[in-house]
This record gives sequence, structure tokens and C-alpha cells, in this order.
Amino acid sequence: MFDLAKVASEIVQRIYLMIGFTALVGLATLAATSTDAMVRRLGGRRWQRLHRVVYVIGILALIHYFQQTKADVSVPTFTAGLFAWLIGYRIAVKLWKVRGELSTLALAALGVVVAGLTFVVEAIGIAIVFNVSPLVVLQADFDFDIDLDMIRPGWLVLAVGLAVAALNFVCAGLVKPPRRARAAPGKSANEAPAERALASAN
Ligand code: HEM
Repeated sequence: MFDLAKVASEIVQRIYLMIGFTALVGLATLAATSTDAMVRRLGGRRWQRLHRVVYVIGILALIHYFQQTKADVSVPTFTAGLFAWLIGYRIAVKLWKVRGELSTLALAALGVVVAGLTFVVEAIGIAIVFNVSPLVVLQADFDFDIDLDMIRPGWLVLAVGLAVAALNFVCAGLVKPPRRARAAPGKSANEAPAERALASAN
């Protein structure tokens, strides 16, 4: 009923809503600082440094998701697996100093590793909460005599990871790498200031 005082008091009283609210304020800040004018004012480097906060926001959103889920945490676990895949991609690119994109093989390997991590972390989490052996949970992951709704998050993360690798394989065959265009005279002067600021940050 648009009782904002009530909304505010609800948010303040519940830690999971405070976390969601912090994530929302963070996302709003990143949106507000992403117009061309704001990027120009901040400068590429400062803009990029500020926007690294998105990693923290992602983690806050995941915590919020886990906390609001009462019983079955399969979907938040799947979401966390996808987040881990995205972070894993960035770590792999930095670690191996990859120029451009990861190869199909590296993408497939990333999918397998992150899916494995999803199985292990989920098993440890369930083991702690329900006081059971993590090995029993891992064993249940390989019990395929169940309906489709019950596919464990690790398998879904594996499916997504391998689908991305397969898509990359197909696209690599279809798309020719663009020939390096020579910079036209005066090109950089015509670039939008935001693009230039961002380019200087990279
Ligand atoms: C003021 C900020 C926020 C408030 C007050 C809030 C509140 C809530 C509440 C009450 C629920 C539970 C809904 C239910 O029980 O059916 C929920 C679920 C959820 N929230 Fe938030 N939230 C906020 C911000 C965010 C942000 C910023 C994100 C993500 C970036 C987010 C992601 C989610 C997700 C994924 C769910 C689970 C939805 C589902 O199970 O279908 N929330 N939130």
C-alpha cells in the first residue's frame, strides 16, 4: 500500500533484505555512472575501478537469494554455479594472459571444473546443515533414477558450460576473424569521448 515507512522498517529489521537493498543501491549506482557524460567525467580508469564493485554486488545478490530460500537451495546453487563460471572465465583469461576469448577446449574444461566445484561445495553445504556425510550427497548426484525436476545443480552447470563450448565451436567455424581495419586518419578524434575514455582504461 505504498507505506514506505513500513517498507523501510521491514528492510532494516531483516538481514537478507538489507543485503538485497545494498545490492540494489550498488546496481543503481553503477547504472547512474554509466551514461557517456558520467564516464567522461569520471575518466576510464576511475569508472572501471568503481565498476569492479559489480563482483561484490553479485555475491551479495547470491547471499540474498540463498537466505530467502527456505528449504530447497537447488536453484540458488545453480545460479551460484553460473556466477562461479563467469568469475572462472575472468580468472582463466588473467592467469593465462589470453588475448581475446578462451578457446573451445578451455571453455569445455572450465565447464567441467566449475560443475565439479558446484557438486563438491553443494555436498559440503548440505553435509554441514543436515549433519550427513558429504559422500552420501555426492553419491545421490549420480542416482539418475529420478524425475527431470530433480536434476542436481552441478549437472545443470555442466550442461550450460558444455553448451557454451559447443556454441563457441560452431561460431568459430562460421565467423571469420575480422581483418584488422587500419585506423582511418582522425578516427580517434571522432570517437565518442566515453569510448575513448574506456579504451584508455583497457
Ligand atoms: C530493496 C531491495 C530488495 C528487497 C526488499 C528484496 C526482497 C526480496 C524478497 C522479500 C524476496 C522473497 C520473495 C518470496 O518469498 O517470494 C526476494 C527474493 C529474491 N530476490 Fe530480492 N530484494 C531486493 C533486492 C534484490 C536484488 C538487488 C536482487 C538481485 C540482483 C534480488 C534477487 C532476488 C532473487 C533472485 C530472489 C528469489 C526469487 C525467487 O525465488 O523466485 N533481490 N527478494
